[in-house]
Amino acid sequence: MEVFIMKTWTAIERYQPYAHYSQHLLTKLEKQQQDSIWHLVYHIQPKSGLLNDPNGFSFFNNKWHLFYQSFPYGAVNGLRSWVHLTSTDLTHWKHEKTSLLPDTQYETHGAYSGSALPMGDQLFLMYTGNVRTANWGRHAYQLGAWMNKEGDFYKLPTPLINQPLTNFTQHFRDPKIIHHGNNYFAFLGARRADDTGHVLVYKAPKVTGPWSYVDELHFGSSSLGYMIECPNLVFINQHPVFIFCPQGLSKQKLSYENIYPNTYIVGDSFNWDTLTIVNPSSLHNFDSGFDLYATQAFNTANGETYAIGWAGLPETKYPSDQENWQGSLSLVRKLSLQRTHLIQSPITTDLIDTSFDPINESLDLQEKVSFSFKRFPNGKLILQADHSDNRLTIFFDSTNATVKVDRDKFGKKIGSKFGTTRTVKLTSKTKLDFTLYLDKSIFELYLNGGSTALTGRYFPDQADTYHLDTSHLKSQKFDVQGWRLKSI
Ligand code: FRU
Repeated sequence: MEVFIMKTWTAIERYQPYAHYSQHLLTKLEKQQQDSIWHLVYHIQPKSGLLNDPNGFSFFNNKWHLFYQSFPYGAVNGLRSWVHLTSTDLTHWKHEKTSLLPDTQYETHGAYSGSALPMGDQLFLMYTGNVRTANWGRHAYQLGAWMNKEGDFYKLPTPLINQPLTNFTQHFRDPKIIHHGNNYFAFLGARRADDTGHVLVYKAPKVTGPWSYVDELHFGSSSLGYMIECPNLVFINQHPVFIFCPQGLSKQKLSYENIYPNTYIVGDSFNWDTLTIVNPSSLHNFDSGFDLYATQAFNTANGETYAIGWAGLPETKYPSDQENWQGSLSLVRKLSLQRTHLIQSPITTDLIDTSFDPINESLDLQEKVSFSFKRFPNGKLILQADHSDNRLTIFFDSTNATVKVDRDKFGKKIGSKFGTTRTVKLTSKTKLDFTLYLDKSIFELYLNGGSTALTGRYFPDQADTYHLDTSHLKSQKFDVQGWRLKSI
């Protein structure tokens, strides 16, 4: 196999128009991703290069639509476009032929994140155009585009919002568009000049404008960190759920270990006149694992709520960078509420292939395994490679009702300066159930019916078979079931 080494990138190379790259290079990069031992089999991953945020998650023209932030030519922060995927079951995703490309003067340095709203026979996209000035200053434009049923894009000729408010920096992005009453609302992440993070709300009588600033979103804290990225407001049984990424959040406000957390707040109700989340809950982690960020959620026309996150983190290197690709998305999760807590239920029905015995048969890292304990267990469960030391360990402590996931020995190191374990404290000490999804280089662990989720990447040193070692579970009684999963 041809070894195709990572290169050192100049800013010019990262932001030059895609036309400067050859089809030959793209074909090589795609093959390298396909041939990787870390190539995922039922999660969304880039065909080549870098994938980050999910964008434009929506239901339109009888299909689910999803886009992701992409730089197709390497595992670096380069010129972003939106790669388009469709699905009929939220599980099998098809890469569509046309991407939303950064090809106007308002997005010379990237078509950044945004959201979508179905409107009749078109899908409206609102997103951020990133422009760098000659001395590498930043300018953020909020842009609009239509997508027709054939998947062709028609951009609006001028920005919907030209610049941030005075007193705010150009870190102003990721519009989440919502239709309410006779108006459209856009919720935007922003960094104020005093380095505090805010969500600014704009309103328009039509999606095409004119858009005018109304107020900040009031969610019970005047500021959380220095910048808020990727805000989402969704409603579950009339309760507002605000899902967002505060950067620079004080650990006094929330315990988290990743470089930046992905968080949520639930309210009793939402006051659209004052843009206030009434009686906001405390701040929760959306996912307590190693790698989940930039979650995008939306409500369907009949009020269901779906979310998907980027299983990756900003400013973090991953072992697959060596193979010129990076990032994946989580499974799609249906969201429901239990008081002020989200319950996350991954959509996997169409992935189930056959059942298997996870205690006596080996695993290929393409399985779903569910354990149910009548009493909270003690000890550990090990997913052990058969021909190497590679392993994932899950520790249980009934005294503290904690579950700790340790990926330290699971192949190559990832972001170790942020720790190699993640621990969650559960509310119930009495029982425990969990489901673990394994795909070649990602796991998703859902505890107690999805009331806590932990997502993480891992990069085993070699392709291998695995077995589950339950011998350290200190003779706790449990039920276990396993299923082999399909490749999508
Ligand atoms: C979050 C983010 C967004 C931005 C996008 C650029 O990961 O930084 O705020 O729009 O990525 O790719």
